[in-house]
Amino acid sequence: MKISLEEAVQLLRKGKTVAVPTETVYGLAASIMHPQAIENIFVKKKRPANNPLIIHASSLQQIESFANVDPEARKLAEFFWPGPLTMVLEANISNIPSIVRAGLDTAAFRIPLHEVALKLIEQVGPVVMPSANLSGKPSATMPEHVEADFGKDFPVLDGGATKHGLESTIIILRHDRWEIIRLGAIPAELFESCLGYIPKAVISKKDEKPLCPGQMYRHYAPKAKLLFTSMPEKAKGVVIGFKDRKYLNANRVFSLGNSSNADEIAENLYSVLRQLDEESVTEAFIDANMPHTGLWATIVERLHKAAEK
Ligand code: TXA
Ligand code: MG
Repeated sequence: MKISLEEAVQLLRKGKTVAVPTETVYGLAASIMHPQAIENIFVKKKRPANNPLIIHASSLQQIESFANVDPEARKLAEFFWPGPLTMVLEANISNIPSIVRAGLDTAAFRIPLHEVALKLIEQVGPVVMPSANLSGKPSATMPEHVEADFGKDFPVLDGGATKHGLESTIIILRHDRWEIIRLGAIPAELFESCLGYIPKAVISKKDEKPLCPGQMYRHYAPKAKLLFTSMPEKAKGVVIGFKDRKYLNANRVFSLGNSSNADEIAENLYSVLRQLDEESVTEAFIDANMPHTGLWATIVERLHKAAEK
């Protein structure tokens, strides 16, 4: 159910949850002042309690009451915020409910680059927002995706399709270097002009304590079995490919967009994955001939996660 900004503000103040557009994906918002609403987010999403939430603020000042923003973090904040960067910082734990942090002594923060989201946060104060999808499913990039997961009556602040279509990039400072713990809408290479180096993407091994708990779970996954192929022109059946290529043996092609336009592919990716479920596709071949640098690194990682069983 689409609602106005004013209605969303009222609902959040009353301790309800609503879906909110951001420049990355739709978020499922609850005011940080309402622990019961935050608990409801975990229940609604079927999200494990050990997976912490990102605190979304409208100013650096708000974040300073929750965390230690040292000069290193400030530099990144000034460069990338508002925008699709999430920073994990040492938390002022007495000011952040434990449920938000999943008991950790750090917390994740970002200031979204989205007029409606910022207006909402200015009126309500900081909100926690996981992506507005059922745990394990592709994130929602349109109001219709939110409704598909949470029902037609669920309140959605309508912002149309989201700009990036992929979640924020998450970074953490370790041993004096920033590291990427979730690839996202900001490609690793873009950090160089701010930091003087390209942060390394680190993936926790199965037996260690995860740096980014959410990355340990199955994600972005449709029901269909997904198979990568470097010879998609030979693939029979369903192909996930690019609109400027021909798949003569396929009997159905889902187009991600133009193969030379990573932004367009990112924008369409989750819609295509969701469409597979809508059309009850059981198996699909992914055209694996795509670059692995820049934003493509995130796209490739999401496709791999979607294909994991
Ligand atoms: O673009 C985005 O980041 C979207 C929009 C709505 O802002 N939000 C989003 O939230 O993707 P979510 O909950 O789907 O993913 C947040 C990720 C999870 O993998 C979680 O484990 C990680 O952030 N995270 C949160 N707090 C953390 C912390 N203190 N340390 C490490 N990872 C953390
Ligand atoms: Mg998510």
